[in-house]
Parts: sequence; structure tokens; C-alpha cells
Amino acid sequence: MIPPPYLNSDKHSFGYDTARVRWPKIINGCITDLPKLNTRNNPQLLQQFHQLLNDINDDRTLQPFTPDEIKLNSHLKLYNEHLLANGPYTWKTGPWLYLECHLYQVINNIFLRDNINIDIFQILKQSTLVSSQVGIIELCKNISNRDFRNVSSKDKLVYFKEFIDISLWGNSTDLSLLAGNVSLDDIKSIQGEETRKLNEKNILVNDTFKIFEYLNIHPGGIIDIVLDNSGFELFSDLVLAIYLVEAGLASKVNFHCKLIPWFVSDTLPKDFDELFIELDKFQNDAVSGFVHKCKQYITTGKFNVKSDAFWTLPLPYWDLAKYPIYSQFQSLTLLIFKGDLNYRKLTGDVAWPKTTSFAEAIQGLLTAGLPIVTLRTCKADVTVGLPPGVEDTLINSDGEFWSSSGKFAVINFFKP
Ligand code: F6P
Ligand code: MG
Repeated sequence: MIPPPYLNSDKHSFGYDTARVRWPKIINGCITDLPKLNTRNNPQLLQQFHQLLNDINDDRTLQPFTPDEIKLNSHLKLYNEHLLANGPYTWKTGPWLYLECHLYQVINNIFLRDNINIDIFQILKQSTLVSSQVGIIELCKNISNRDFRNVSSKDKLVYFKEFIDISLWGNSTDLSLLAGNVSLDDIKSIQGEETRKLNEKNILVNDTFKIFEYLNIHPGGIIDIVLDNSGFELFSDLVLAIYLVEAGLASKVNFHCKLIPWFVSDTLPKDFDELFIELDKFQNDAVSGFVHKCKQYITTGKFNVKSDAFWTLPLPYWDLAKYPIYSQFQSLTLLIFKGDLNYRKLTGDVAWPKTTSFAEAIQGLLTAGLPIVTLRTCKADVTVGLPPGVEDTLINSDGEFWSSSGKFAVINFFKP
């Protein structure tokens, strides 16, 4: 039986605090940044943000999207169908995952209605990338003199592990967490090599070796990465992708982005260019070399940047095989899901016992024939695949909210 979803009314869920503290902070951030983005109709747009803030603070009932909104974005139909079948919901009591997706669609509609094409989180995205400068230069210097094309099989595994870790911990850089108790200094401190080594013990499920073994048997295929955050995390994913291609573990990497601004820091196709522009400003040879290589791989088709509305639906990925996006995955060797939100969608964001197997938690995806990897630092309640007893140890050491603290991580591999 499938357990119930995590609810914003549940004081034991991170959703409780998210709806009451973090969302209002995020919306207030939009109100502060909007005038700086120099848009038309500012007063009208601001008024809509204030309205959204009041709706959340007053715990009002969510309204279905209007026919006009659906005309502008047909995918909202699916939101209404979900609300009709499962609602009504209020902002502070309904299911956390659905509500959070609905929230970002409401924000997007504010701009869509007036045909204004801006990323309201752009200023925040940019400012945190600058604060990642030290970590980025360290990594670029580190990889610029290494030849991944000719490495011994022993080193191939060592490097693979290193780059998986870089991409994994790159996921700690989630701007929506800045609306909570994580500071920019905290983010900076997790980006260095030393810290990555220290954090190894916090990877609660680690299938890295199994993934490597699998890729070694199936080298040179297509690897798709369903991206999460832009900025430092996107940088870390590109580092991993470069390694995969140059070590011959993949011939091509497809990057899947969101279509609309999402969960503050998620990657949009234009964030690739934003990243390259910001990195060039560092005026560092190793960093410029990295940017040049990425651009070259994009031009030659080794790297492909894609986007699809599927990633901004409010649904678990259990039924992914029923959606058109599935046809894109027919010939891939590996599908890597980055980050917390993707993990929540893979597992349905329901209250699985922590010892539930990953295979059970992904439900219908189990039979979709896709080899799946998750690289996720834990920032929400749902975590599966733990050996018996581990949860109790974590509660004792880190308290009830260990799974949403961002301190722990999971690397899962599922092969059909
Ligand atoms: O925990 C904070 C949070 O905003 C969650 O609501 C959400 O699942 C997650 O972070 C987003 O994180 P990520 O960028 O890793 O998907
Ligand atoms: Mg994100």
C-alpha cells in the first residue's frame, strides 16, 4: 500500500516550516527584486505577489487555474484535474509536493499573463554564483591538467567516484534553502575537496561502485541528466559530464532543464549562458578553459541542452512512461536525476518507511526499462533504502529533521 503524502499541516514534516517561513521569505524576495528587474506594470505585478503572500499567510484555499491561464499554459490543466480529484487544499494543510509546484506556477502566471519574459530569481541566482568563486577555481585548476582519455582502470574508478561526489554535493547549493537557516558561508564551505572527503560518511546509500561497473560494461552510450539547480550545481554537473565523455563512459550527454523559473534556483536553458558569462568574469585561465570546452561540446553536439514542461508538473515520476518525454529516453544508457525535488518526485513524496527499497518507492517507473541514478542531498522528509536501525541512529545524532537538514545524501542506482 502507498503511504500518505507529506502534508504542510504536519509539524513533523519539513513542509510545515516551508509553508510558514520559507515560502513567505521567497515571495518577499521576489517583491524586493522585481523593481530591480525593470519590468513594465510593476505596481500590478507587485500587487499580485502581495496577494499570493496573503493567500499563503491566511491559509486560503487554492483556486484552480482559470481558462485564460490554461490557454497560456496548457499543462496547467493537469493541475486542475489533480485538484478536482484530490482537493480542495489550503496552502498550510495540503500535500507539500503538490502545493510547492502549484506555488511556482502561480508565480510564473504573474508574468505570463502580461507576456513578460523574466526570471524573477535571476538576481539571487547570480549573486550566489559569485560566492562560489573559490570552489569553482579550485575545481577547474584541479581538472585542467588531467588527461581523462588515457587513465588506468583503477584511476578510472577513483576519478568516477570523485566526479560523482562533486556533482552530488553540488546539490547542497540550493537557493531555496537560503530562505531557511543555511547561510552563504555554509554553502561556500561545502564546495571544497576537504569537506567532500569529510562528508563521505554522510552518504547513507552509496551505489557509486555499482554504477561504475554498469557503465564499464556499457561504455560510450548516451547519458541523460535531469538537472536541478543552476550556478554551482550546474557547474558541478558539467564537470561530471566532461569526465563521462572524456573517459569514454558516454558518447553524449543530454541535459534536461525546466521551462519556467522553478524552486528558485532550478536550471533553465538560458542559465547555461548565464553560467558561462559569470565564469568568464573570474578571469582565470583554468576557468576559461573549462568554459571553452563546455561551449565546444555544445557546438559539436556532445552536450545537448533540452527542456520540457514535464519537469514542472506536480506529479510523481511513477507514470513517466505514459508521457511524451518517455520517447526521448528510449536509447539512453543511464538516466541521472539530480537533487532533492527530483528524488521527491521519484519516490512520490509519501511517507515510506525509511527501510523501503528504492525499487518499491519508484513504483511504476520500475517497469519503464530505464536504468536510473539519483544524486541527492537530503532536503526533505522522504528517504528510502536505509538498512534497519540507521534511522534511529540518525534521529539520535541529528534529531527528527535529519532528512531535511542537507547534511546527508543518497546515491541510488536502479537497473531494470
Ligand atoms: O528543503 C528545501 C527545498 O526547497 C525543498 O522544498 C525542495 O524539495 C528542495 O529544497 C529543492 O531542492 P533541490 O534544489 O535539491 O531540488
Ligand atoms: Mg532545485
